[in-house]
Amino acid sequence: MKIDSALKTAYELLDASVMHYQGKPVGTLAALHSDKLAAANYEECFIRDFVPSALVYLADGKPEIVKNFLETVLTLRTQERSLAGHEIQPGVMPASFRVEVLNDGREVLQADFGEKAIGRVAPVDSMMWWMILLFIYVRSTGDETLAKRPEFQKTMRQILHICLKDSFEVTPALLVPDACSMIDRRMGIYGHPLEIQSLFYGILRIAHYLLEETPAEKNSAEPSLLKTAQTREKALYNYVRIFYWLDMDRLNEIHRYTTEEFGTNSVNVLNIYPESIPEWTPDWLPDDAGYLVGNVGPGRMDFRFFSLGNLIAIMFGLTTDDQAARIMRLYDTRWSDLVGAMPMKIIYPAMTGLEWRVRTGSDPKNVAWSYQNGGNWPSLLWYFVAAAIQTGRGDLAERAFTTAVEKLEQHDWPEYYDGKAGRLIGRRSNVRQVWTATSLIMAHKLLENPELLRLLPD
Ligand code: GLC
Repeated sequence: MKIDSALKTAYELLDASVMHYQGKPVGTLAALHSDKLAAANYEECFIRDFVPSALVYLADGKPEIVKNFLETVLTLRTQERSLAGHEIQPGVMPASFRVEVLNDGREVLQADFGEKAIGRVAPVDSMMWWMILLFIYVRSTGDETLAKRPEFQKTMRQILHICLKDSFEVTPALLVPDACSMIDRRMGIYGHPLEIQSLFYGILRIAHYLLEETPAEKNSAEPSLLKTAQTREKALYNYVRIFYWLDMDRLNEIHRYTTEEFGTNSVNVLNIYPESIPEWTPDWLPDDAGYLVGNVGPGRMDFRFFSLGNLIAIMFGLTTDDQAARIMRLYDTRWSDLVGAMPMKIIYPAMTGLEWRVRTGSDPKNVAWSYQNGGNWPSLLWYFVAAAIQTGRGDLAERAFTTAVEKLEQHDWPEYYDGKAGRLIGRRSNVRQVWTATSLIMAHKLLENPELLRLLPD
């Protein structure tokens, strides 16, 4: 009964969140209005938050809002502002948008490319999620005409160009600033965060299916954009599987690494110092489990566990089957740390003391075991359920779902929970947070019908 009632209210929340533009549904608000709204922009449609809303609509056979969303966001791409000498790249998509009604009654769309966001950070994940959603829409509806439209082909090209163009890279991973994805405040994740690499891999895979070579490319001796994407995809795949992977064997290797090797034959190519292994890691890592670490760069391995990056890596096939199984075993063995009273922990462990001060800039919203610094986010549930089912761990998916469904409706759909075990409703948490509700609906749908997994890129 609890499930039926929770799903019913979750749907009511979703229905009430639909945003209309010129009479058409084009997106869903991040949160419904309440006196607990943490910031004004929660009443906008966020690209990443819309993903589970879209999946619910597609699974229910109502693709119209998803199509409208894809078309609308595509037009917003041209709205970006540029400062002299500081242009925002043309493929960059906004973090969020809203509909404004002018005095004369006309409606206009207002997009936020980061110029209003706290810390003025431009999202990198939005354009990736847009392309992933386009793929899911095509798979779900069989409507290939949308992706074939010239403006859709052009937009995909712009997105891939930004990600593939020559920059200061020496590895296949994508270099990005801090706070450019789901974690949109300073959290020490600049560089090559896992979440972005997993999404990047997703769009490189999708290019196979959706991107067409132009006649000029077909007649050229130079590799086409599609070929370049394929080359990068293979390189990224090998790089992440090797350099981001951590298990006991690998930890032992790093613990005994030789450092300061010069030349092309070095083993410790990124020059990771064994002294950088945090004290918690060797005792926490089970013998038979493993995970992809949060970030890898020169002299740097961020040993923290980031849920979203690991789960998307499993969903998109960036991990090997064995790695996927071992990540799930980590969840199983460290359930109280990674799931606890509310699925899922966003990052483990939290940063405290001096590290928190230096890496977050003393952000009071991100104190230890709160919000993005080790809080528990129900919006991550559906990713876990998808990855667990895909890995043959439906038992874990069920367990996480049952934990969430017990409380979310009663707590009025909080955005996040606080505390090591996630037992407290987040201190500055919104309630009536839409992706909290849609994540629960989607998790339930996946458990009822695992066939839905075929909509994801493989
Ligand atoms: C917070 C989250 C971000 C989300 C937004 C709207 O800023 O960090 O990922 O998109 O809220 O829910």
